Order: sequence, then C-alpha cells, then structure tokens
Amino acid sequence: MPNLSVLGAQWGDEGKGKVVDFYARHADLVVRYAGGSNAGHTLVVNGRKLAVHLLPSGVARPGTLCVLGDAMVIDPTALLTEIDDLGRVGHPIDEASLRVSGRAHLVLPYHQELDALREGGPTAIGTTRRGIGPAYEDKMARRGVRVIDLLKPARLRQRLEPALSEAAARIEQLGGAPPDLETVLARLVEQGERLRPYVADTGVLIAEAIDAGRTVLFEGAQGGLLDIDHGTYPFVTSSTTVAGGIGAGTGVGPHLLGALVGVAKAYVTRVGEGPLPTEITGEDQERVRKLGDEFGSTTGRPRRCGWLDLPALRYVVRVSGLQWLALTKLDILAGLERIPVCEAYRLRGRVIEHLPADPDDLAAVEPVYREMEGFPPLRGDERAVEELPAGARAYVQMVERALGIGVCLVSIGPAREDTIVCHALP
Ligand code: IMP
Repeated sequence: MPNLSVLGAQWGDEGKGKVVDFYARHADLVVRYAGGSNAGHTLVVNGRKLAVHLLPSGVARPGTLCVLGDAMVIDPTALLTEIDDLGRVGHPIDEASLRVSGRAHLVLPYHQELDALREGGPTAIGTTRRGIGPAYEDKMARRGVRVIDLLKPARLRQRLEPALSEAAARIEQLGGAPPDLETVLARLVEQGERLRPYVADTGVLIAEAIDAGRTVLFEGAQGGLLDIDHGTYPFVTSSTTVAGGIGAGTGVGPHLLGALVGVAKAYVTRVGEGPLPTEITGEDQERVRKLGDEFGSTTGRPRRCGWLDLPALRYVVRVSGLQWLALTKLDILAGLERIPVCEAYRLRGRVIEHLPADPDDLAAVEPVYREMEGFPPLRGDERAVEELPAGARAYVQMVERALGIGVCLVSIGPAREDTIVCHALP
C-alpha cells in the first residue's frame, strides 16, 4: 500500500482512531504531525481498555513504528505515563516501536497552569487545559524548550530559565503560584533520561523508511475546523490540523503524503465554545449524544451535537485537498424518521454555500436544511454498502455528491469489523 494521510474533517472526535486502526494494518510507520495530549482515543490492548492522548492509534499493532513528529507539543509526564500504561497491559514500548522528534516542543507544568488560569477568566474558549496553547505560544516566540534540549542538562537549564521566568510573570499576574526553576529542571532531567532512547531526527527516519519501500500512515489530531489558521478562530486549537501541516509537521515533502483521507461523522459534534451552526435543539440533542456516546475522551465533557453541516465539510475538503472521506457513526442516525442535513446557510436573507470568514457572520448564519429519509436500525452485520438499508445508502451517496469526492469507508459501529469498505484506496 502507498502512504496515506488520515485527518479530521470537522471539529475533532470524528473517529479517526478507528479509521487509522483500519488502515494501519498496511502501514509500517504511523506518524502524528500536530497537537499534543489534547487528542485522545481508546485502545483495547490484550483485552484491556486504555486511554491514550499522545501515542498514535497504531501503537498497539505489533511491528508498527510510531512516530511523534516535529510540530507536536509533548508533555513528557503524559508520554511516560502512556508508555508505562502500555507496558502494564503487556505491550511494552521500546525504541523499535516509538520514536519522538527532538524538534518537538515540550509542554511543561507552567503551560498547563497558564492554560487553566486563562480558562478561569473572560478569554476562556473551553480548551482541554493540557497546556497546548501556551506551549505553542512559547514555540512561536522562540523561547520554547524542545525535546532535544532534554538530552543536555546544561542547555536545558539555559533554555528553561528565560521561558520559565516569562511564564512565572504571567502566572503571577493571573493570581497563580509561580513555578520553581530547580523543581521543574530536576524532574525534566530525570524524564529526559527515560526518554533519551526514543529521541530521533524523525524526518530522516521517515524519509529513509520511505526510500526503503516502507509504508507510512500520517495520523491527524483534532479536525480541520479547529485549525489555527483555517478553523473557527479564536475557538480553535493552536496547531495546523489541515493537510498543509503534515509535511511541515513531519519533515517530509507534500508529495509523499499519499491519498488524503478525511474523517467525518454522519453528523457533527464539538466540545468547547464556538460556533456550531447546525447544533441540534430539543430532545434529539440528548438522543444523539447518548446513542453516539458523545463525551470527550480527554476531558469527559459532553459534546455538542449537530446535524451534518455540508458547507463546513466542503470547506475542509477544499482547504485540506481531501480526496476521500471516511464516514463514521452512520448507525447513530438509524431509527430517525427524517434526517436533517445542512446544505447551505442563510445569512441576512441571502443563501450562501460557503463557511463565512467573518466570525459575526458565522454566528449569524442559519442552516438551510434538506430532509433525508430515515432508515431502520442496522442489523450490525452489514459488510457491504449494498447490504445497508436504502435510506443509509442514499445518505452516503448524498455526501459523495455534495462534496464531489468518494466515500471510501463507512463505519457502522465501534468494533473493527463494523466497517464497510466502499472503495479501495488507489
Ligand atoms: P486546546 O487544543 O486544548 O487548546 O483546545 C482548543 C479547542 O480545541 C477547544 O475547543 C477544545 O475542546 C478543542 N479540542 C482540542 N483537542 C481536541 C480533540 O482532540 N477533539 C475535539 N476537540 C478538541
């Protein structure tokens, strides 16, 4: 199989983990390119459930090398916890199964403190409080501390001192307790020793693997509408989640990314604040949330649920240049008499088919719905599109027509087998 990129096409939580797991069967390397422990998915390893936030979905597949790429922000405490957790359930992680980019930036305790303090104030946007924004701020301000700095304690001190003193001033201003340099440093030196074997120039490693004929799966985190530049700013994460971030986030050229597969739910969800034009009102909100088990895997927060938003999805298809769509959780819509789908927006009396750039306009749009016919509950053993009820098939076709790209895969349940392949990827 050639390389493949799998990325979120909505506001995150689209079910990327399952799609990556499906395609990772054919991959030698699974590479994450952005974000940090704000992401989350559940793995089942040796019959035990594990929540992972940093490690890619391929981590439990024997023989797969997982890579945490250059543009990620990595909390060393979270990473070591995940490594230990996997070891505990009988899947030990070593240098053959995990490599971490030395260029990636560290998320440090003071980033989390700052994130939490800000979330307690008027600028709150509903972050995961994992310190992601403040860590990327330090990176962009060129005062960040990187994974590679962990390997040299003298340089680590040199990098940490000014970064920490900046953070301390901001923390104090917000009423928090400033961090102590020596305490942070001592812990990092210890963690650096544990992480040393995993640290690598991962761009070289990926390039050499591709040259040797190995297959790479690039795994996105969050979704296109949470992208720092292209998402619903300021209610976004702080990284590049769209396809343009894959090459930049891993150190390979864009020609090596393979097919670009977006993952979208058959409806939409969002956690945190920010516009969600198709947010469901009334008892259907609770129904979809319950049936879809729509609670954040990192924070446990209830997700806001909405009907499928085609203008928003079309936007991400364009910005990321998506070539295929994996449609997840189609089973959750079963049993509804009619399924509203947002085809366009009405903005001050005018019908528009694109996602407006102006946040006031985005807040003011009203969805223009088309009603799709519902379909009965699925049996659960459907393994081909032809076996789906007519209404479900029509739903998939409607998505393909509206986006102008093919649906490569439909997910109708959480298990690996609950996956229908509609098109084999080229
Ligand atoms: P941050 O990434 O923690 O700074 O959070 C910024 C915004 O992105 C918030 O609305 C979060 O709820 C959202 N977010 C971050 N990571 C995820 C994710 O993995 N799934 C869904 N939403 C996310």
